[in-house]
Parts: sequence; C-alpha cells; structure tokens
Amino acid sequence: MFANEQTVALDERFVIHTYGRLPVEFVEGKGAVLVDAAGNEYIDFLAGIGAVSLGHAHPTLVAALKEQAGRLWQVSNYYHDANRGQLAECLSEMLSTTTDETGVTTGSTGTVWRTFFANSGAEANEGAIKLARRWGEKKLNGATGIVSARKSFHGRTLATLSATGQDVFHQSFHPLPQGFCSVPLNDFDALVAVLDEPPAECGPVCAVLLECIQGEGGVWPADLDYLRSVANLCHERKVMLVIDEVQTGFCRTGAPFSYQRAGIEPDIVSMAKGIAGGFPMGAVAARDEVAALLVPGDHGSTFGGNALAMAVGLACAQTLMQEHVADYARETGDYLAQRLATIPHVTEVRGAGLMRGAQLDVPIATPLVEQGLRLTERGRCGLVLNHVGDSILRFLPPLVISDEQIDEMVDSLAFLVGELA
Ligand SMILES: Cc1ncc(COP(=O)(O)O)c(C=O)c1O
Repeated sequence: MFANEQTVALDERFVIHTYGRLPVEFVEGKGAVLVDAAGNEYIDFLAGIGAVSLGHAHPTLVAALKEQAGRLWQVSNYYHDANRGQLAECLSEMLSTTTDETGVTTGSTGTVWRTFFANSGAEANEGAIKLARRWGEKKLNGATGIVSARKSFHGRTLATLSATGQDVFHQSFHPLPQGFCSVPLNDFDALVAVLDEPPAECGPVCAVLLECIQGEGGVWPADLDYLRSVANLCHERKVMLVIDEVQTGFCRTGAPFSYQRAGIEPDIVSMAKGIAGGFPMGAVAARDEVAALLVPGDHGSTFGGNALAMAVGLACAQTLMQEHVADYARETGDYLAQRLATIPHVTEVRGAGLMRGAQLDVPIATPLVEQGLRLTERGRCGLVLNHVGDSILRFLPPLVISDEQIDEMVDSLAFLVGELA
C-alpha cells in the first residue's frame, strides 16, 4: 500500500473531505489489476464503484478516446454528432432485450427507447424525475409524487437525495424538495397503500422509482415476483415505473439490464457508471410515448452528450454486446458467489452476476478493506475491496475478472477473516 507523501499532503490541505480516503495512490491499471505509485499490484473488486465495466485501459475504449480527443471534444447539443444517434440506437436495442430469470437473452420487446445524455447517475435520475412529473402533469391530473424504496440510493443532488430512502443522507440538508416518500422494498401491500392514500409529503403519485438490486444500501435484491407485481400495478394505474440501473446496468447483473430478469418493461430507465467504462457519463431513456413529452427547452446539459463521452460510450456499448459480456458476468458471477460462500463468517451471499454482497456475522468489514490493501506489505497481491456498513462486503469487479483472480481474492480474504474475526 503506497501513496506519495506530497500527494497526501496536498489532498489533506486543499481538497474538501467528503470521502474518507484510503492511503493508496493508484497510477495505472490493466483489466482487473491496479498498480500503485510504488509498483505494487492489486486485484480490483470495486472497478471505480462499478464504473469500469470492461476493465482498466481496455484497448478499444482507449483507441476510441484517443481518436476523438485529437479531433473534437465539445460543441454542445445544438449540433449533430454521428456517434450520439448510434449510441442511442445501441442503447435502445440493449433496453428492449428480453431475458430469462438468469439473464440469458431470449429476444426483444421491439420497443423503441429514446435517450437523453447526461454526466452522472444523479443527473440521470434528475432527468427521470422531471420526465415522470411531466407525465403526471399531462396524463395524471397533475400528480407529482415519487415513491421509492427504503435503503435505496439515487444520488446526491437535492431531488435525488429526497428520493433516496435513507435518512442518514438527508441530515443537515433540509429543506429537501417535496413530493417524495419511501416504502419497504418487497412489500407490495405497502406500495399499494401509498398509491391509494399518498402521505401528505408525497401527494398523488406519478412514479415508482426502484433499483432491482439496491447497491449502496447493502446489495438487497428486489424479488422478481415483487417487480412483476409492481410493473402490473404501475401499468394499470398509468403510473410511471422508473428503474434506476445506474449500478445494475450494462451487463453487471448478467443481463444487459437488471429489470430484464423479471420479464418487465419499465417506462423510464436511468443509467451511468458502466455506460462508458469509467468515462463520466449518465443517461436517461424512456419509451417513445413518454420521451415525446419533453420538447426543446425542457431539459438540457452543457456537457451531456459531448463528443468524447459519445465516442467512448459507443465503443463501450458495442463491445459489451459483441463480446457477450453479460454471459461472462453471469457465469463468473455465479463462481464468485459460490466461492464467497465458502469463507468463514460469511452467512449469506446476495445479488446477481458480478454485483454481490457478502453478509458477515462479525463487524469486521472496515478493517478487512484496509487489510486487503495492506496485503502488499506482506508479499501478497493487494485487494481492492469495498464495504457497505460494518458487516457487508460489496463486490463490483470489472466484468473481465477471471476465475483465477477470484480464487486469489477468496484465499486472501479467508486468511484475513481468520486473523480479524
Ligand atoms: C443506484 C444508484 N443511483 C444513482 C447513483 C448516483 O450516481 P452518481 O454518483 O454517478 O451521481 C448511484 C451511485 O452510487 C447508484 O448506485
């Protein structure tokens, strides 16, 4: 584990400390391996918080970025860009894919999806919220309420904080935008009750906003039957079903998008993280009929849809599909889950594909993450691990992680658990 002294000193003095930074300075990466400033190697099980979908320095993405960087970066959304339409078409194909419950592709719904390009997951959700409210205004007598799930996470802007069903993120930032409430995940009756009699702080509901597997909340999956019931309910009442695929999207769960495993089709989908392999980008897509409610002037972004992001995003989406990355994530993810379950003190492994949470029966997740990095000081390969709270380890490796790298991680992790538990 190594970081240059000056790097740490400047960060401590001049950067706002919204993150508890770990004392490592990574300087390069290849595939699922990261290298620190002293040349130590680490296997990466976080992938820049689920963003580096195709692994570090993927040659196709590097080539696309370099080629575009030498020609044109930014002209704004007032003008055409050949990659923008191609990427939106590619996303439409990915979003309309149908799969079985494990994620194996079975066909297509044939639905046409239209996309607005943004820069982050929170911004994608802001777009989703605005679109849902426009739907409420036009089709549901002005309904504005958004119902999300407890333990959800939708971003750090004020509206997406309101939508985030965890009070801990709200403290100190009141007053938050109104028109939001949350219900326990997988409790269908609770959702029906809110739609029937919305609480005052929410008001008549225009949209239900869900993650199919809650990531930041602790890797808690929605039951597939629950998702089906919610989709039917929303459909019957003409309420928008908004699925937040920021963390689960782009093959992470073994399907192009996680809702496909439940055989449902949302109205609006927000995306980011894996969309451009680690290049900053977000997007919100909607079915044709819904997307048509936004007209010039309603929404925008200076940098959203910029030439660099479009070039890398297109290369990333094409590679994910051409190289059947969802199949690889599903098979490798099953192997990861199976191996994690053999580690002492792991009582449950949750999630799908290469999005997994390991529940520990001892609160050692925080020291495990630090000791994973410190393995380099003991002559072993380091581990980049992540925890959600004291007892949950979350695994979001690049979707190119190998069985051998998983074996090495599991052996080292079992060794560390033995020391710390
Ligand atoms: C499900 C989900 N939605 C939204 C966000 C916010 O994304 P961003 O940090 O890019 O704004 C995250 C971030 O972790 C997320 O996991």
